[in-house]
Amino acid sequence: MTTALITGSTAGIGAAFARRLAADGHNLVLVARDTKRLREQATELHDRHGIEAEVLTADLATEDGITAVEERLGRRRDGVDLLVNNAGFANKGRYLEVPLADELTMLKVHCEAVLRLTSAATDAMRERGRGGVVNVASVAAFVPRGTYGASKAWVVQFTQGAARDLEGSGVRLMALCPGLVRTEFHERAGMGTDNIPKWMWLDADKLVKAALADLARGKSLSIPDPRYKAMMGLVKVTPRALIGGVTSRTGRKYGPK
Ligand SMILES: NC(=O)c1ccc[n+]([C@@H]2O[C@H](COP(=O)([O-])OP(=O)(O)OC[C@H]3O[C@@H](n4cnc5c(N)ncnc54)[C@H](OP(=O)(O)O)[C@@H]3O)[C@@H](O)[C@H]2O)c1
Repeated sequence: MTTALITGSTAGIGAAFARRLAADGHNLVLVARDTKRLREQATELHDRHGIEAEVLTADLATEDGITAVEERLGRRRDGVDLLVNNAGFANKGRYLEVPLADELTMLKVHCEAVLRLTSAATDAMRERGRGGVVNVASVAAFVPRGTYGASKAWVVQFTQGAARDLEGSGVRLMALCPGLVRTEFHERAGMGTDNIPKWMWLDADKLVKAALADLARGKSLSIPDPRYKAMMGLVKVTPRALIGGVTSRTGRKYGPK
């Protein structure tokens, strides 16, 4: 039986990964900040699928939180075969409207934690000659969209570079770039979603199914939905000034600007 560790497992895309992987018979290590919610999730997945689900409470915006997860990933006994770096959040507002401390917290969770957890996991996986890492980025990685987009662009570049460096080692790395997904993400950030057309929303369970299929195919970049794949194709040939005008406004309004 293999073990998967998922950060941000209690809601949205992380919870969909947990459901899918548990249904496929993987033991789980569930990571988030809310211990009560983690315990309830572990019990439910154990009862429904007969798998072992470990709870690891950790705040990935803190040194202690990152270290605790690094230690779990570095363990050689009961090793982790699949890491899903999924925990993440948005800050509402444009550049200079968001407090610098919140931007730095985002870089800690989206970049430093992802770098350190990927390194701890792949070091142990390389020794065993097998393993996988899914780093959840976003289609925002491909457009100018403040610190959020920049941090996700880093996730894509880092993951694809590391995937190339580890080719032949038996360890696969993939950056997952979802479009809009109905989760707690926008509500937590206090972002309105009323003017987002219905067709743009993706279902988290379908997204995860497609992502795991892409990982199995050995892809280092996954944009699971054909609509978003087409849009990202367009983005490549559209002037950046035009894209920036649209993306920097969407869903990020703070005040009346
Ligand atoms: N939803 C979208 O439209 C969308 C689109 C593209 C990419 N993404 C990316 O997908 C990932 C998951 O987002 P989601 O939409 O599923 O969000 P979500 O529904 O808000 O869930 C976020 C999860 O991350 C955990 N988390 C947040 N901050 C954390 C921290 N500091 N330390 C540890 N755990 C933390 C939360 O649990 P606790 O609060 O208990 O810690 C929760 O389990 C993120 O990386 C996001 O950037 C989302």
